[in-house]
Amino acid sequence: MARHLITSALPYINGIKHLGNMVGSMLPADVYSRYLRQRGHEVLYICATDEHGTPAELAAKEQGLPVDEFCAQAHDAQKAVYDGFALAFDYFGRSSSEQNVEITQHFARRLNENGFIEERAIRQVYSPTDGRFLPDRYVEGTCPHCGYDKARGDQCENCTRVLDPTDLINPRSAISGSTDLEVRETKHLFLLQSKLQHEVEEWVAAHEEEWPQLAASIARKWLNEGLHDRAITRDLDWGVPVPSDTWPELAAEGKVFYVWFDAPIEYIGATKEWSDLDPENRDWKSWWYDVDSDVRYTEFMAKDNVPFHTVMFPATELGVREPWKKVDYVKAFNWLTYYGGKFSTSQKRGVFTDQALDILPADYWRYFLIANAPESDDSSFTWEHFTATVNKDLADTLGNFVNRVLSFSKKRFGEEVPAGGEPGEAEAKLGEEIARLLAEYESQMEALQFRKAAAALRALWSAGNSYLEEKAPWLEIKTDKDGAALTLRTAMNLIHLYAVVSEPFIPATSAAMRQAFALKDDTATWITADEARTLTALTPGTPFTVPPVLFAKLTDEDLETYKERFGGSPE
Ligand code: 2FM
Ligand code: ZN
Repeated sequence: MARHLITSALPYINGIKHLGNMVGSMLPADVYSRYLRQRGHEVLYICATDEHGTPAELAAKEQGLPVDEFCAQAHDAQKAVYDGFALAFDYFGRSSSEQNVEITQHFARRLNENGFIEERAIRQVYSPTDGRFLPDRYVEGTCPHCGYDKARGDQCENCTRVLDPTDLINPRSAISGSTDLEVRETKHLFLLQSKLQHEVEEWVAAHEEEWPQLAASIARKWLNEGLHDRAITRDLDWGVPVPSDTWPELAAEGKVFYVWFDAPIEYIGATKEWSDLDPENRDWKSWWYDVDSDVRYTEFMAKDNVPFHTVMFPATELGVREPWKKVDYVKAFNWLTYYGGKFSTSQKRGVFTDQALDILPADYWRYFLIANAPESDDSSFTWEHFTATVNKDLADTLGNFVNRVLSFSKKRFGEEVPAGGEPGEAEAKLGEEIARLLAEYESQMEALQFRKAAAALRALWSAGNSYLEEKAPWLEIKTDKDGAALTLRTAMNLIHLYAVVSEPFIPATSAAMRQAFALKDDTATWITADEARTLTALTPGTPFTVPPVLFAKLTDEDLETYKERFGGSPE
């Protein structure tokens, strides 16, 4: 069995994420991790909050909190939501951890020793009122091209032209509004990515064939445009400090690393955070250092993150000249839209993850989101689609099947799996169908094709319904009691199978299904093809209880309430 290292893009610390973030990184990573664990693989699923950068500083300021306190609170708030979504991280760390500071500084020193870091003087806007240098996007003013008066120093949103802060007419600080700005010279560290272009190209060429097209094409595009040297330090109060042993002058000026330099390193940092909690039994280096072939590393992210993960972070890792593990497979997602428009944090359009859990349990969301994941294209969230999917797939096809079978059997045969006669033609046909669909489900999961895996899961649930309709035990019982008992026993075996194979998608419901049969093994073992074909794992006499309704049907009234609360079409 392989060892699987899995990471999902680290959510920024400022603010609770919306459903689009969830479906493009953490949720599919969790589904995949759960599946691999059930198949007996050793899995380490790592994520963390991405805590540095100007947005974190500004969010803290807005709340009137010191930035470290803000981050500690915001981390806990995000973690609580992810627990609510049943994301089974092996560890959910923080990029501001001492472990990340240590490893980030180590990476920087090594890059420097290897000639990939250079100190360069640049001219930057300084605001005496704010007492700081302003990042380009925090200088606002009038666009010299189109006259838009809220253009940012990096780009004009109105005409999309790329700008330099010094291009702006009547520039002002976006933080304080002060127009008292000057341009000062200041030194920064530059990562000489141009020197690594060739190596990164070779590395990408050796991997891209295996990557999904979305990830490979974005990596290619960036490489074709050429890797540019990039400033990897900033003048901020909050971040990983530039190490004073190597750069005393910059350290004394309080420079910190740019958030995108230390964030991917936190994948390693968080693994060390995890390992430091129980060093006798956990070995972070066995996942990251000198492990090329025995660890398979899969990353999950939305498409805007792909350049950082396929080109920039690998360039950093290559330049360090130490055998750090590099990604094997990059699973990238397109956007989930809200009625075809953007989910917007600032305009409060769309559904935030905490609000989602206020309305309905996690399994409703997990199933819907993965079944409609923006894999090959963007996909659109609408309340109409959501309620229809919940009602049809979860309430009717799965939930109703489970309840119908168990309630009817209890009524006619008591609270144990009934014995009944020998399986016949209908059971043989069903068994073949289930074994075929299970194989399809497994191969789609292994290929990380989540929509197709969800379709196969849905087909497994449907096959049970077709069987039940065909055998109609409620009629059968009138003439053939043994036959009806066989039908119910077979259907209960399907429920057992559903309990196991649905776990990656709907873990709480799976647990409820397992509990119905008082199955002791809480961590399900996978179903073999043979068990799928014979459907006899649950033996006659096994006691069961009828669980409460697994999925509530959503009404037209619910639909209207949701639309009103969250807004329908963005137009
Ligand atoms: O885009 C984002 O949300 C970033 N916080 C992702 C960081 S991923 C990683 F490299 F840390
Ligand atoms: Zn403009």
